[in-house]
Amino acid sequence: MRVVMLGPPGAGKGTQARLLQEAVGVPQISTGDMLRAAQHNGSSLGAAARRYMDAGQLVPDEVVIGLVEQRLQAADCTRGFILDGFPRTVPQARELECLLSKRGSGLDAVVAVEVPREELVRRLSGRLVCRDCGAMYHASSNPPEHAARCDRCGGELYQREDDRPDQIAIRLDLHARELAPVENYYRACGLLRAVQGTGTQDDVFGRIRASLP
Ligand code: AP5
Ligand code: MG
Repeated sequence: MRVVMLGPPGAGKGTQARLLQEAVGVPQISTGDMLRAAQHNGSSLGAAARRYMDAGQLVPDEVVIGLVEQRLQAADCTRGFILDGFPRTVPQARELECLLSKRGSGLDAVVAVEVPREELVRRLSGRLVCRDCGAMYHASSNPPEHAARCDRCGGELYQREDDRPDQIAIRLDLHARELAPVENYYRACGLLRAVQGTGTQDDVFGRIRASLP
């Protein structure tokens, strides 16, 4: 299964991609997670990406495309993948199509998760992420049992730099401008599946499963 998850910041792309990964057995590929890992490791790519990410801006297409191209060559992607947060621009979408067609394949579906802006702000401003396993919590609606520690692995929980209130507004505005052309691109290809992203995580997951071929 080769799927793309589209949606604004806080829509639940990462949450749902992880559930789908467990259910289907193909890897979640999150460009945001890969870029944050590159920063954490102190690589030059991470340092270059940081100034864009901390400002709530998109990292240049060629950087992100290079990362995805390399990742898709890994053995665990032979049965498919769930792309989370990529593509985010039409040039990225075109490049992905080229990469896949060279391998004689293509996407099965593009899921666009839709959530009202006020709910996105609520989710992002309370989000806590485990530094070790990436598990996600929310300070009020899904708090960890022990403050600042992950229930699953005991790792440290942190708030992402780009989840500060000023950054959230910038990201949501940018996203509103960038997403429409990408959705139009996939609508024209007949791949787009719009899914309501409100309700419980299980509700949303059920809708996503039902939308997939
Ligand atoms: P990225 O990491 O992809 O961030 P994003 O797109 O802003 O999306 P988020 O990760 O914030 O939200 P999400 O949709 O994954 O929601 P989540 O599941 O966490 O990208 C970060 C940055 O990297 C970009 O700004 C850019 O700079 C750069 N970048 C990345 N990809 C790029 C690309 N392709 N091109 C250029 N630059 C790129 O859920 C959010 C919260 O809500 C969590 O607390 C969760 O527990 C909670 N939640 C989830 N589902 C529900 C539910 N149903 N009900 C209640 N709460 C829920
Ligand atoms: Mg995410």
